[in-house]
This record gives sequence, C-alpha cells and structure tokens, in this order.
Amino acid sequence: ANEQKIEQLLKKMTLEEKVGQMTQITLDVVGKGEDRFSSFEPLSLDKDSLKKALVDYHIGSVLNTANNRALTPEKWYSIISEIQHVATNDTRLKIPIIYGVDEIHGATYTVGATMFPQQIGQAASRNRDLVRKGAEITAYETRASSIPWNFSPVLDLGLDPRFSRMWESFGEDPYLGAQLGVEMINGYEGINNNIGDPKHVASSLKHFLGYHATVSGKDRTPSYISPEALREYHLPAFKAAVEAGAHTIMINSGIINGVPVHANYDLLTKLLKEELNFKGLIVTDWADIENLHRRDRIAPTDKEAIRLAINAGIDMSMVPYDYETFCDGLIELVKEGAVKMERIDDAVRRVLRVKFALNLFDRPTTHFKDYPDFGSKAFEKAAYDMASESITLLKNSNDILPLSKDKKVLVTGPNANSMRTLNGAWTYSWQGEKTPEYASEYNTILEAIQNEIGDGNVMYSPGVSYIMGGKYYEEKYDQMEATLKLAEEVDVVVLCLGENTYTEKPGDMNDLYMSAYQTELALALAKVGKPIILILNEGRPRVISRFELEMEAIVQTYLPGNFGGDALADILFGDVNPSGKLPYTYPRYPNATISYIHKPSEEQKKAEGVYNYEADYNPQFFFGHGLSYTDFEYSNFTLNKSTFRNGEVIEVSVEVKNKGKVAGKEVVHLFSSDLYASKITPDVKRLRRFEKISLAAGERKTVRFELTADDLKYFDATGKAVIEAGEFELIIGELTQTIELVD
Ligand code: IFM
Repeated sequence: ANEQKIEQLLKKMTLEEKVGQMTQITLDVVGKGEDRFSSFEPLSLDKDSLKKALVDYHIGSVLNTANNRALTPEKWYSIISEIQHVATNDTRLKIPIIYGVDEIHGATYTVGATMFPQQIGQAASRNRDLVRKGAEITAYETRASSIPWNFSPVLDLGLDPRFSRMWESFGEDPYLGAQLGVEMINGYEGINNNIGDPKHVASSLKHFLGYHATVSGKDRTPSYISPEALREYHLPAFKAAVEAGAHTIMINSGIINGVPVHANYDLLTKLLKEELNFKGLIVTDWADIENLHRRDRIAPTDKEAIRLAINAGIDMSMVPYDYETFCDGLIELVKEGAVKMERIDDAVRRVLRVKFALNLFDRPTTHFKDYPDFGSKAFEKAAYDMASESITLLKNSNDILPLSKDKKVLVTGPNANSMRTLNGAWTYSWQGEKTPEYASEYNTILEAIQNEIGDGNVMYSPGVSYIMGGKYYEEKYDQMEATLKLAEEVDVVVLCLGENTYTEKPGDMNDLYMSAYQTELALALAKVGKPIILILNEGRPRVISRFELEMEAIVQTYLPGNFGGDALADILFGDVNPSGKLPYTYPRYPNATISYIHKPSEEQKKAEGVYNYEADYNPQFFFGHGLSYTDFEYSNFTLNKSTFRNGEVIEVSVEVKNKGKVAGKEVVHLFSSDLYASKITPDVKRLRRFEKISLAAGERKTVRFELTADDLKYFDATGKAVIEAGEFELIIGELTQTIELVD
C-alpha cells in the first residue's frame, strides 16, 4: 500500500520538490545561530531560515550539528514539532521531514536517557539478547524525543587500533559483526522491521564499506581492498543487515582502490542496490558530495561532484556545505540531461519509502508523555547487565581477584573518577566533552568502589589527568608524589588508565603505546611494591607491554557507559563473575597489529618451524580471550558425521562443565580451519559460531551448533564464492575434529 502512495506522491512532485527530498541540512542552518559550524546550541529556530529551507527549497531531512549538545526530550519535541509544523502545513505537498541523530550507545543526545556500553564492549559480551534489548531501549528513548532515525549500527570491521573509531565497531571478526549487527537492527527496527510502530526507529548501517581499512590507520584516507577481501571480510555484516531489512545505509567517506566510495557506481548501485537488492535509502556521510571536489579532487567543480555521486547511486546528501548550491546544481544537471529523471525518482522513492514506513505522514512527531519507561530502572538494569557482561578479565595472577571487601584500596589514574571516559564520544555531544553536567547522578569507578567497600577503605589521587579543553591525548601530572605516598599505605592499588574521549579525525593517533605519563605512573607505582589491578578504560587496545608484567591483574572495561563503574566494582569485589571476551586481538607492540584472521606465513614459527623470531605472531592477548573466577572444562566434542556434501548439515556438539565453586558464564567459540584451498591461501582459522551459556558451580551443559558447506566457503581472487572439497579442522577451545567435504 505504501508503494502506491509513493507513486501517487511522486507523480505530483516537481523536480525542485524531488531534489529537496534528497537533501539533509543540519539543525543550525535553521537555528538562530551566527556561524553554521560553530558550537551553536539550537535553543530556538529561525522562522525565516526554516521557511526558506523547507518551503522554498523543499528540504526533506534535518540532522544534528556537529556540536549540538544533548537536550531534554521536551526540548527535542518543541524543536522537531516546530520543523514538522512547517513541513506538514506550509509546504505544497505537506511531506514531513525525517530527523536523524547518532544515538550509537543509547539515546545519547537526550538528557536522562540510558547509556549502554559502546559497541566494542557490546561485542565483548557476546550476548545477542542484551545487544537486541539495548537497541530496543535506545529506539524507545530516541522516539521519546521525537527522533525517528538513528545513524547506527557501525558494521565496519574494527581491525586497526590506530583508527579513531575502532570502538564504534563490533571488533575484528566479520561473523561476530554480522551476528550482533542483525540483533541491533532487530532491536532498533523491531523483528519485522515495523518502524511504523512508534517504539522503533529506522536504523542506518554505516559506513558502507571498508571505512576502517585505511592503509595509514587514519580516518577518511585511502584503503586498498581486493575483491576477495571485500567479500570475505568487509561485506558479510552489511549483507546480513540488508537481509535483516535495515531501512537506510550511510556511505564510507574514504577512498577504495583509488575511487572515493561516494562516486563508486559499482559499490553503490551494482553491489548494494542490484546484487544485495537493498530497497532503502542511501545517505552520504557529512558533506561528502562536495568532498569529491573540495578534498578528493575527483571532480573539478561542486556540480560535477553532485553528478558523480547521484549517478553512482546516492539518494540523500547529508549536509551539503551549501544546500542552495546543491539543490540548484542538481536541478540544472537534470535539466541538462546529465542526471536522468529515473535516477532522481529512484532516490525520492527510497526517501519516501522510509518516511511512509515510519508513518511520519500520519504521525510526524512522537511525544515524551507516551514513553513512561524512559530512563526507568528496568532500562538502567539492562545497561548495567550489558556493562557487567562486557567487562573482560585479561589477567589474574595468583587469583588476586576478586578482592575481599575489607581491603584498603588506592584508586588512581586519569580514568578513575570520570564519567566522560566511561562513556566515550557521541555521548551528550560529538566528542563526548560535555558529559559531566548530565552524568553526576551516575558512579565513576572511584564512586562505585566507595559504594562497594565504604569510603573509609578507599583513598584517591589521580597521579595523571587529562587536560580538559585540550586535545584528547594531552595529559599532565596530577599529584604524582602524593599518589605514590598513598600507595604505601594501602593493600592494593586500582590503577585506572586509558584514554580521554575522541572520535573521527580528532581521534587519529600516531603512537599506540599507552601514553608516556600513564606509563610513568604505572612504573612508579610498581616500584612501591603493592599489588596493582590495572583497569583499562579505552576505545582501542593501547599497548601496555612496557609495564604489563608489573600488573597483578588486568581488567578491560572498554567504554562501558553510565553503569560501567558499578559493574566494574561488582566484578572487582566478586559480586559478579566476569564473562566478557576480547572482540579484537590485543597487540603487544604498536607495529604488530595482526588480527587473529591471518595467513599461515604471518605465524612464522608454525610456517617455518623457527622459534623466537621477534616478529612472530605473539599478541598481548588473543581474540576471544577473557578469564572467569571459575574454570570451564570442555569435553565430548562430537560431529554427526566425518564426511559431508554440499547441502548437508554438520551437527557439532560439545560438553562444557563448570569445574569451579562459583556460577559463571562462558562463551563457546567454534572456529574452522581450511587445511588447503586451491585458489587462495586460507586463513589460519575463522570464527563460525558462538554461544554464551550460564553454568552453576558443578553444572554441565551440551552446546550444539549446525554448519553447512556454505559456512566454510571462501572467495577467490576475483571475488567469486568457492565451495571446495577437502578437509577442515573444527576447533572448540583446545579440542579439534576433522571433517571432509566430498564432491
Ligand atoms: O553518522 C555520522 C558519521 O558516523 C560520521 N560523520 C557524521 C555523521 C552524522 O553525524
């Protein structure tokens, strides 16, 4: 029925109205501000600018400015309803606008909303239900502020810790990313993608595709991706998410094999729209049409940039530097025949499809009063659960953890008393710099530890601090001497190191080692001689090999959100048994960032029988690593057959026993290893299935998986899928089984 309505509406639309629907402006363009890219806060709208954009230029979409700060749901409602009022009353065809926001780990631009761990931590939880539930809550709270479109999830592979946005991903594994990406979409959009239900939002997969795979490790720089790598690693999560019905997709700002993705017809139209049959809306990233001219120099003029991008398959331009130039330019191109009307119609159909699916024509706004569960205790519990299942115990020498509650503790480090660093960027503001004023009701690590064991047993001194208002990597000594003195008086030191908040270009970095200041603090504390529990609160694995040996225990929190402090304290003192597993390979050296997905030659000792090369594959911690306070024993790894044919199902089962004295959760990972592949060198191993289970002390459970030949396929150098007869090793923990695919 919506398709009919779209066609009827399309027939009535002028070229100018169609082009307007393809344009998305920032809120400050219609706000009372002086400078478009300043830190203007959109507390009121400018009626003339609003009329010009929506009535004269027929603009179809609005998003946040780079520097918007979070607003109350009521304030959001007043802004969005004012915009919708103009769109649905004063324009000729009364088409509502679609408002979009980056609510990437909770409704992060709404004061009082529930903040979950960032995606990298969610991946560590390996808990599909919690990921879906978190997205459901985020959708609900996003709609509570009248916003129907969320620029999430990130489905890029988080392969490179140098890249400023690694933590926005689900980590380095394509299968893990695909599985959790689909859960997130189901949460945002509802199981049947019923985004007309005002509890759901349209999601936006991003950034299609290969955005994090840059050679330099820097944001928006070139990547070289072979057809094989594209299909094997970068496409699967997007493909799964398109199949799961996601309504919109955002494009990679970078360049692949020399071609900016925004100008790549093969990727946008042939692959995404035709081969994957994506029926939704393709939106650019920020100003990326003009960037084809102004940055990437593939178009000598802005107008040529518009022609290239629209003909490549772009449906909506996010933030043209100047929307009038964009609209006028596109209109001229159509009149000159350089962009065909069918292309414009295809784009507008896709925009309208999302607007109708969201039911914006009948209900252009939603109101806070209809969302009684906003910020509820039940929602907070879901965020806490996610934090406690994501936090990953990396090292626990002499079983020092959990700590008994009568210990005297020094809490120190720049991340010890900061809500800002627990949340990371895209929280209350783009770079996360405006956190404190909203987050005072939640507990920092220090406060949570004080709550856990009483103020009397807790000393605090930062040692090192971040320089507020400086660059994210700027630090200073902060009572270093006093900190070392306090360390002498306690039983144990909880040292909270990591990073300040950052995203995108401002977060690019040149040195993966933990900062010099923090390294010095760690080494100086080690000299005092008290056991140190290292807490990492970081968006990417900063190299800790300069002091790792001095640390008795290491706990990775990632960016765990507003309840990360509480969850961590519960883990440190044994109220919760940790169950997170690394979603990436933790490097030992800055120049050794090899993923677990690598070729045999990258494990020199295995391939050549030579030991102790400095450059052997030898990460600090492996992908999937994560300790528990109990021990799990794997046994009875069985297959239903030893040979199979294409089309048949292999049934895999394994028994897991909790051998320890406390209940725990375990993630069972099933890997496969293709022993020989005739057209490419196979990866050493690949994750094929995972399942998280809970086991009481002494309990035993059987975990079952099913695989088919399709799960074991690979892509040849031209990107063609190959299912090839031969032997495969299946690996669960230390156990292996061999299975043969026969013709
Ligand atoms: O969604 C984001 C994207 O991830 C980076 N550039 C800006 C977009 C809109 O805020």
